[in-house]
Amino acid sequence: MTLLQPNTPWWQSAIVYQIYPWSFQDSNGDGIGDLPGIISRLDYLNGSPDSLGVDAIWLSPIYPSPMHDFGYDVSDYCNIDPRFGTLADFDRLVSEAHRRGIRVVMDLVLNHTSNQHPWFIESRSSRTSAKRDWYYWADGKSGRRPPNNWAARFGGSAWTHDPHTGQYYLHSFLSEQPDLNWANPAVRDAVFGVVRFWLDRGVDGFRLDAINWLGKDTSWPDNPRRLAWRSYYRQIHRYDRDQPHTHEALRALRSSLKDREDILLVGETSSDTSGGPAAFYGNGSNELHEVFDFRLLRSDWHPDTFRRLILDSDRAVPQGGWPPVVFSNHDQSRHIDRYGAGGEAIRRARATALLLFTLRGTPFVYYGEELGLRDGRLRRADLHDPYTIRYWPWKTGRDPARTPMPWDDSPQAGFTTGRPWLPLSQAWRQTNVAGEQRDPGSILSLYKRLIRMKKGSNALTVGTYHPVDGGPPECLFFIRETLVDGQRDALFIAVNFSAHTQKISLQTVHSELGRTGTLILSTDTQRAEGPWTADHFLLGPDEGIVVSVA
Ligand code: GLC
Ligand code: CA
Repeated sequence: MTLLQPNTPWWQSAIVYQIYPWSFQDSNGDGIGDLPGIISRLDYLNGSPDSLGVDAIWLSPIYPSPMHDFGYDVSDYCNIDPRFGTLADFDRLVSEAHRRGIRVVMDLVLNHTSNQHPWFIESRSSRTSAKRDWYYWADGKSGRRPPNNWAARFGGSAWTHDPHTGQYYLHSFLSEQPDLNWANPAVRDAVFGVVRFWLDRGVDGFRLDAINWLGKDTSWPDNPRRLAWRSYYRQIHRYDRDQPHTHEALRALRSSLKDREDILLVGETSSDTSGGPAAFYGNGSNELHEVFDFRLLRSDWHPDTFRRLILDSDRAVPQGGWPPVVFSNHDQSRHIDRYGAGGEAIRRARATALLLFTLRGTPFVYYGEELGLRDGRLRRADLHDPYTIRYWPWKTGRDPARTPMPWDDSPQAGFTTGRPWLPLSQAWRQTNVAGEQRDPGSILSLYKRLIRMKKGSNALTVGTYHPVDGGPPECLFFIRETLVDGQRDALFIAVNFSAHTQKISLQTVHSELGRTGTLILSTDTQRAEGPWTADHFLLGPDEGIVVSVA
């Protein structure tokens, strides 16, 4: 297949697979996933006939870390944590991945380091240390009160008192994660050096962690208050996030990569960012290439919300930017459990998969979602993540979505020969790679079909998105299409969000097209492919279909 614009950046037609390194594959029996383990599973991802067919892996952090926040507290940006392997293992991973057509995207944690990072140790050593202003230090208010009311994302004050020098340091997350001072050009230069280090090792892109946090208002005003249950939301984060300086820093990063326009920069920003997450595309060509929009991850299985948010986020992307499509990651309960609540979880997961590969944008698959892996039902004693522990059992937290990848039905699901660091998700004997590879009706088989369909279709890859109105409120309809030299390539996509069969009759799906087509894929394994007409068609409970209408 030839793509429309030959100079389309690779990520516009790519499928990205997020690996949580702790949980993908252990190679040495210590119960923790590692790089040699990932290498041994690359064929599953791409390069052989029954591979999933993904084009890139994004690795959650693998740098040396005391692991208070499971790698998001980095103590050395230019090395590999010994739990995961060595730089030599990493080089081998990059070359083995590239050999299979898989690009490698690293997680860059730029807002903060670990409190064990040598930069912070030096910064903390005295008020006059050469690295004092690599982090934010401030005097407390009269007596023993922090400089202002800012709350940390994971609970408590964002300031911790350091008895050694008598000042407070700022941390937007855990106290073990002090925030770097991005107003200091030396910090910027050091970080750009880190970026070069990984580019020189062959990396193809970066996922930028919590990127809207970079800039701070360093006159330290209190955040305005509001009513909420959790302390973090009891204030509007007006001064500790989304500052103009963040955009400056991103523009500087982007221009430092002028010679490498083939590098993907995809950013994680919180959704209540002013101007929305899309603000971080800048003008479309001077900040990030892709920006996650997590609003759909907070929605339930409801057609109105999906219709509204999908259109909103599609329209918000400026020319030159490109949207990611994502439903699950390592910070949230898995979407099969979120969307599945109160309904048929597996049917809804199948319909969500159809959306993942038919909406406009780069699909991000979170390891295990292609199997329909559920949140682990963990006990208090199983938990590791401090955030999960803090709000347990009122909030599901993050550990349940981080359980080991189930590869087969052998002991420990083929993940480890030892004791897995987190227990396996309950249904691993039914939900595992080997079993689903053999079953044409499995979620894994559906993911493979959808991936192959997307890759074979210009409309699905680079086509525009148009909502189609006029159907029942329980359903979502849209068209993806390309038009080149008068040649139209169009697909009609329909998803039923209700538990009932819908009888549908549409006046029109598209002003330029007829009202007949060929159904090429359904999430319902019983449904036959073949002729289709807009005059009268059925959608089963939670069913999604793709129809070729050109
Ligand atoms: C991001 C990461 C999350 C981490 C936090 C702090 O939100 O996805 O896992 O805890 O940033 O780095
Ligand atoms: Ca291991």
